[in-house]
Amino acid sequence: MFKTQVFKVNVENFKFEKSEGVFPEQNAKSLISNQQDQEAIDKAVEFLKQGEAIGIPTETVYGLAANALDENAVSKIFAAKNRPQDNPLIVHVSSIEMLKSILPNNVVPEVYLPVIRQHWPGPLTIILPASSLIPISVTCGHPTVAVRFPSHPVARSLIEACGFPLAAPSANSSGKPSPTLASHVYHDLQGRIPFILDGGSCNVGVESTVLDGLRNPPAILRPGGLTYELLKNVPGMEKLQVYKKHFVDTELEQAPTTPGMKYRHYSPEAKVILIDRKNELDTKFNDKFERALRDQVEIIQNTGAIVSKVGILRTTQDGETAIWETNTTLSNNIKCLSLQMGRSGHPEEVARGMFKGLRHLDQSDVDLIFVEGISEDREGMAVMNRLRKAASITIEV
Ligand code: TXA
Ligand code: MG
Repeated sequence: MFKTQVFKVNVENFKFEKSEGVFPEQNAKSLISNQQDQEAIDKAVEFLKQGEAIGIPTETVYGLAANALDENAVSKIFAAKNRPQDNPLIVHVSSIEMLKSILPNNVVPEVYLPVIRQHWPGPLTIILPASSLIPISVTCGHPTVAVRFPSHPVARSLIEACGFPLAAPSANSSGKPSPTLASHVYHDLQGRIPFILDGGSCNVGVESTVLDGLRNPPAILRPGGLTYELLKNVPGMEKLQVYKKHFVDTELEQAPTTPGMKYRHYSPEAKVILIDRKNELDTKFNDKFERALRDQVEIIQNTGAIVSKVGILRTTQDGETAIWETNTTLSNNIKCLSLQMGRSGHPEEVARGMFKGLRHLDQSDVDLIFVEGISEDREGMAVMNRLRKAASITIEV
């Protein structure tokens, strides 16, 4: 058991100075302008050098980070979050040099050069050949390794200060919604890790897009913060496919490398019911949502289950005043807590608010969570991927 310490850092005080050469942005050097923030980073580096696993902010979700080259440190990640031993980790780097240092013959496959130039640092993970430097516990014995260069200034600066790459899955207990605030990490992992760097809320809110460019054509294995639409525009990615949408692969299906396939994911304690729309332009959707919700409550009550409080997670329309939290009643003895996750035509807002909403409802002791489906455009693809996995029932109205 640890007494988990939480250190706040201010993102504003982390800057980067571009370097010379082919990758000026990717090889930029970190400058920290505040003593307290520098001390927080030093403290984090100390824990990581000692082989501990700690909570860190990234632009997507909080990560549970440890030295990716230290087998024993990596084992602490699996233990702290109770992660299945066969679910491989993402390795996080902070420069092209660091990337090369972990690849066979220090070579970055050609196919990735344009994506790296355009979208690193950022919410994109790429699948690369693994070298013998990467412990088997990171790759889970696969011949490939997943690598990401986060854009969050604190994560970048921390990896640079360590001088070694960090393996980091999302910092939730396995199966729970991913954490987008330091308090989420504390809730799930207090006592199990010594330290959390609190860098505020994660700007993207869903995990990185996992791209396998070693396949022909290249494929998105997990939709995430970098959209299909943007990635498809990169030279060499014209034929980009999305796993499960454009193709399936029985071999991939057996191995848990396709994120979220084999294991339960993103699930709050309460049963999640996804109410999706058949027609995106349906003006009667609000009425249909309400009716489906009442029908489901009745069906569930008829099984003998007690429903005393329901949670609702919905979008708002442009121009509608956003109210984060509304308490009402559904009937005499059923309370109702409604949260808003963002405007419906702005999937990046919904992505930012979704995990936070699911977690907030779960901590408000609701028995059921009703969540609204959105269009799969842009970040909507990642949102719907997570919501479908979180939901035990999906209804189309
Ligand atoms: O945004 C993110 O990616 C966050 C932050 C912390 O960086 N991390 C994250 O890690 O989401 P995690 O462990 O929750 O998801 C990593 C996924 C795994 O589900 C795994 O299946 C996939 O990446 N993965 C890892 N190595 C792989 C490989 N060699 N081939 C295919 N997929 C791999
Ligand atoms: Mg995860």
